Amino acid sequence: GASKRIKVDGVEYNTDPTFTNVTKSIISHTNKGLHLNDQHPVGILRDLIERKLNSVDNVFMPYNNFKPVVTTWENFDSLGFPANHPGRSKSDTYYINQDHLLRTHTSAHEVQCFQDLQTSKHKGFLISADVYRRDEIDRTHYPVFHQMEGARLWEHGDLDSLKRDLEVMEKALKENQTHTKLLCVSDAPAIDPEENPKQSYMTAPEVELTVAHLKRSLELTVSEVFNRKIESLREMKVANVPTELKYRWVKAYFPWTAPSYEIEVWWQGEWLEICGCGVIKQDVLNKAGFKLDSTMGWAFGLGLDRIAMILFEIPDIRLLWTADERFHRQFKRQTITAFKPYSKHPGSIRDVAFWLPEGTIGQEEEIHENDIMEIVRDTAGSLVESVKLIDSFVDPKTNKKSLCYRINYQSMERNITNLEVNDLQKEVVGRLIDKYHVTIR
Ligand code: PHE
Repeated sequence: GASKRIKVDGVEYNTDPTFTNVTKSIISHTNKGLHLNDQHPVGILRDLIERKLNSVDNVFMPYNNFKPVVTTWENFDSLGFPANHPGRSKSDTYYINQDHLLRTHTSAHEVQCFQDLQTSKHKGFLISADVYRRDEIDRTHYPVFHQMEGARLWEHGDLDSLKRDLEVMEKALKENQTHTKLLCVSDAPAIDPEENPKQSYMTAPEVELTVAHLKRSLELTVSEVFNRKIESLREMKVANVPTELKYRWVKAYFPWTAPSYEIEVWWQGEWLEICGCGVIKQDVLNKAGFKLDSTMGWAFGLGLDRIAMILFEIPDIRLLWTADERFHRQFKRQTITAFKPYSKHPGSIRDVAFWLPEGTIGQEEEIHENDIMEIVRDTAGSLVESVKLIDSFVDPKTNKKSLCYRINYQSMERNITNLEVNDLQKEVVGRLIDKYHVTIR
C-alpha cells in the first residue's frame, strides 16, 4: 500500500517503515526560529558573533534561513563520513526516510554555500540554524539546538592576501582585549604530522597562516562574547569577577577538515567546549565545483545554546523554548543580562521498572536508551524535566535484565496535576510494553 506521508515545514515526504523515526513533537520545533529572534538569548548571541566577525573585513555572507530537512548526502556523504560512522545511526539521528533527515549539524550546508561563493563577492559565510540529535533528557540536553557554521576561503597560493588578512585579524583581536585579557594555557601546533596531519596539496606556510587566521578569528569570537559577560558581571558588582579569560586549543578529528581543532574556555571551574574547526579538506572544495586545488580555507561549527545558557544564566535548557512572557521580556537586543528566575512550578516524580524481553541483552534488538527518551518525550513533550536510569542489574539465575528509569515531570509554564501525570506515566508504560515488549516489575 501507499506509505504514510509527513509534512515538515510545508513540504511532504514519504515515510519509510525501517527509517522514519521523527516524531510529531520533534517536527513541531522545526519552525520556531529562535536563532532569528534577536531578543532571544540564542538570537542575541548569534547576532553578536555575526556582527563581530563581519566588523573585521566584512567578508561573511550570512545564511540564517535554511530549512532543517537535508539529504543523507548533504549531512554525511558530502563531508566524507564513512558508511559505518555512528553519527548515521537511527539511535542518534532523526530520519524522515532513507534519504532525508533533520540535519545533525550546520556543516550539512557547507558544499552548497561553497558553491555559492564561486559567484559571489564574499569570501566566506556564516550559517546559523536549528540542528537535531536524539539524546538523553536533562537540564542541559535537548534534541534540538542551534549551531553557527563559519568558513573563509583564499586562493591556493595567495600567501600575500592570507598574510594581510591575518594582520588585520590580529589587530582586531588585540583591540578587543582592553578590559579582559585572553590567556592561552595550551596550544595545538598547526603542523603535527603524526597526530593531526596537514593535507599534501597545501604548503607548510599556507597551513600555518590559515590555521593562525582560524585561531585568531575564534579567539576574537570568544573574547567578544565572554568580555561582554565579564563586563556585565562587573556592572552588577558580582564578587570575584575573572580578570583574565583562560582558553586552550586541543587537536581534534572531523572527517572533512585536516588539521582539526577544538577551542575550550575555562569558565567557573570547568573547560567549556566552544567549537570544532579545521582546515577544509580539498575534497569538499572540489565537490563544490572549485577548479581542482584552486582554493583553501577554514571552517568552524559553534554550538549556540550552551554558551547562551552560560551567558544569560539560564538554568534549564527548556526555558529557551518557553512561550512565557516572564522569560521573553527579560532580554534585549545585543545585550547580555542574567536571567532572573520566576517561580518554578512544582514537579512530580514517577519511576518505571521493567524486565527486558529474554534474549535481547547485548543484541541489536536491545532497547537503546535514546528510544526510551523518545517515548517519554513524544508522550509528555515539554512536561518532562529529566529521565534518568537509576537502577540496572542482570538476575544471575534467569539471566534477565532489569532497568529502572526515574521520570521527573514538570512544566516551565504551569502547574501540572497528579491526574495528568498519572495519565502520562500510564501512556509511557503502555508504549514501552507495546513497542519493546518489556515486562513491568
Ligand atoms: N559540525 C561539527 C560538529 O557539529 C563542527 C565542525 C564544523 C567541525 C566545521 C569542523 C568544521 O561537531
